[in-house]
Amino acid sequence: MLSHLTAPQADPILSLSIAYRADPRAEKVDLGIGVYKNSQGQTPIMAAVKQAQQRQTEQQTSKAYVGLAGNEVFNQCMIDLIVKDTSAYSRVSAIQTPGASGALRMLGDLIKVAQPDTTVWISNPSYVNHRPVMEAAGLKVRYYQYFDPQTRQVDSQKMLQDLSCAGKNDVVLLHGCCHNPTGADISLSDWKAITELAHKNGFTPFVDIAYQGFGDGLEQDVAGVKFMADNVEEMLITASCSKNFGLYRERTGAAIVVGKNQQHTDNAKGKLMTLARSTYTMPPDHGADLVATVLTDADLTHTWKQELVVMQQRLVGLRTALCQELNTTHNMDQFDFIKSHKGMFTVLGFSSQQMLQLREDYGIYGVGDGRINIAGLQEKDIEYVANAIATLAR
Ligand code: LMR
Repeated sequence: MLSHLTAPQADPILSLSIAYRADPRAEKVDLGIGVYKNSQGQTPIMAAVKQAQQRQTEQQTSKAYVGLAGNEVFNQCMIDLIVKDTSAYSRVSAIQTPGASGALRMLGDLIKVAQPDTTVWISNPSYVNHRPVMEAAGLKVRYYQYFDPQTRQVDSQKMLQDLSCAGKNDVVLLHGCCHNPTGADISLSDWKAITELAHKNGFTPFVDIAYQGFGDGLEQDVAGVKFMADNVEEMLITASCSKNFGLYRERTGAAIVVGKNQQHTDNAKGKLMTLARSTYTMPPDHGADLVATVLTDADLTHTWKQELVVMQQRLVGLRTALCQELNTTHNMDQFDFIKSHKGMFTVLGFSSQQMLQLREDYGIYGVGDGRINIAGLQEKDIEYVANAIATLAR
């Protein structure tokens, strides 16, 4: 049986971490996988999470099963973070999932059951796992134009032109904020225009939000999502606590469904629970319990929000510093777009060959599609990385 299997293709992001670790060069810089690092190059446990963990150790009395939907307090907290104060708030439900990729798969499976002939439209480019997960759920995938390689910004006109072809059997997958991989986000007027198209053409919006708080702030980053939630009958949302709670390995995410009414929403949640049962039964509890502890305690929430602001501002500072170095030392302003991008990522506009050269000649690891993780930079790397970018760009 196993002889029928061929060798798997390496994951374009996860394989980079392995290659980086094996690289003996002292000057190497890891700008690959989307992990936040502080100025010492570490990804520490956030203070609020650490305190929640201490409480958990002291107060948790059992490791018995939680339930198919996971931690319901966590589920409510995730709903609150994303759609509170919208009309969707009274017709929404959520299940906890193993990370946001787990949520993507659960919602992909839900779409397949509810409307088997669905096409999911994803941005070109998009998070590398979007297409594989949707196809694994048996759904068709189509791309909509998104990124203008000249301006390195969203090409709203082309995006809306493509999305005007999405119809009532379609789902349109959007990035809630901090677009992965480009860093170029849609504007509030784009959110409004897509909402209008959803009304007119009948497609279902599906928002993947994995970086809330890393763009402009916790509330600002969901302004578009909230507008949409307020104005559509149905909407799907996946959320991750990997980045904004630093819970990467704990696989803490949520699949959220907004329905026309509570009955539809309850049915969707029930179906998601059945799907979870046949896939992994129930999600790991640890990370969700920590998030629930933080978000139901005013002091811990305050600490967490402050930490998140420090992280967000560090990203802005690194973007500015990199551009400044390119401007002053290399007289190069063609990368100034980096400052306008949001969150962890930026697409440099380099070819896969240039990205390979960046890695082979300088030990700078970015993704083959040209993506670099700004959060992987340390202040001491700015000069070195700017020099490498400038040399390859000449
Ligand atoms: C990334 O895009 O680097 C992260 O979201 C990690 C992943 O799951 O691919």
